[in-house]
Amino acid sequence: MEKRPYTIMVASQKGGVGKTTVAVNLAVALAKHDYKVILIDADASTFSVNGHLGIRASGNGFIEAVQGKSSINDSIFVYQPLDLHLMLGSESKEIYRPDAEDLSKFYAQVAKTDYDFVVIDSSPGLFDSTYAKYINDVIIVTTPDNPSATSNAKLAAFCAKLKLSYRLVINKSGNSKSALEKEDVERLFGDVAFGTLPEDGLVGQSILKQVPACLMDNGAPFPASIEELSRVYLLKAGEPSRKDPDRFARRSFFRKFADWTIGPKYKN
Ligand SMILES: Nc1ncnc2c1ncn2[C@@H]1O[C@H](COP(=O)(O)OP(=O)(O)OP(=O)(O)O)[C@@H](O)[C@H]1O
Ligand SMILES: [Mg+2]
Repeated sequence: MEKRPYTIMVASQKGGVGKTTVAVNLAVALAKHDYKVILIDADASTFSVNGHLGIRASGNGFIEAVQGKSSINDSIFVYQPLDLHLMLGSESKEIYRPDAEDLSKFYAQVAKTDYDFVVIDSSPGLFDSTYAKYINDVIIVTTPDNPSATSNAKLAAFCAKLKLSYRLVINKSGNSKSALEKEDVERLFGDVAFGTLPEDGLVGQSILKQVPACLMDNGAPFPASIEELSRVYLLKAGEPSRKDPDRFARRSFFRKFADWTIGPKYKN
């Protein structure tokens, strides 16, 4: 393992682009590979991981842990199907604004846990730079339209300034009319590592059923692409695929993501 826990922040300048969907399904995909994973719902503006998974958020969770009222261990909900650990928000209608100093202390504690992977779902917009040092990689989620891409280019610049490793995920791809071409990505983001996740009707069904798409149908386009994305991180964890990299390189989608791990900026 490059670093344990390996902390992945799912972020975007825009709301509604699929941050929670990506965070939930990536955490599920990593847990399915038998890694010890915690998914933290840090979107204090609208906690929604519980809604995606059909869980009532009660008891201690993110707010209590950040405020130091409860330890990390005592703020966990275990999602049984996968032994995936969740730190959930509250269902209260009041908006909670975490204190930057509390957040920094909280993430310092998270960094001391023995999880293999920490996946963080976040609010739209920039995150606080005080805890950037605890993040190993940022997934910037955009939709394939210019307004979202343009504003996410600012988030990419913010990550670059903090010397944070980041990659771009273009979610809900497939509408050729609004597709973000490689040239647009290069113009806005420079030589960022990027991959696409397809628009897939299964995602809407999964949210209605409150079952992650990656537990519904692995062969469907969205879960299959998330699985490929998860391999970027499994490679960092020294997963067996290292022994036979060609096994995955033969799959064209993975080749895109493989660039992420072997590209000049992101070499292990
Ligand atoms: N690849 C996809 N294909 C089809 N629908 C998708 C896809 N990704 C996300 N969606 C849909 O987009 C909507 C928003 O997704 P999600 O809640 O994950 O976004 P978000 O960025 O977390 O939003 P917020 O900013 O409110 O937290 C959901 O209704 C979801 O079903
Ligand atoms: Mg969300």
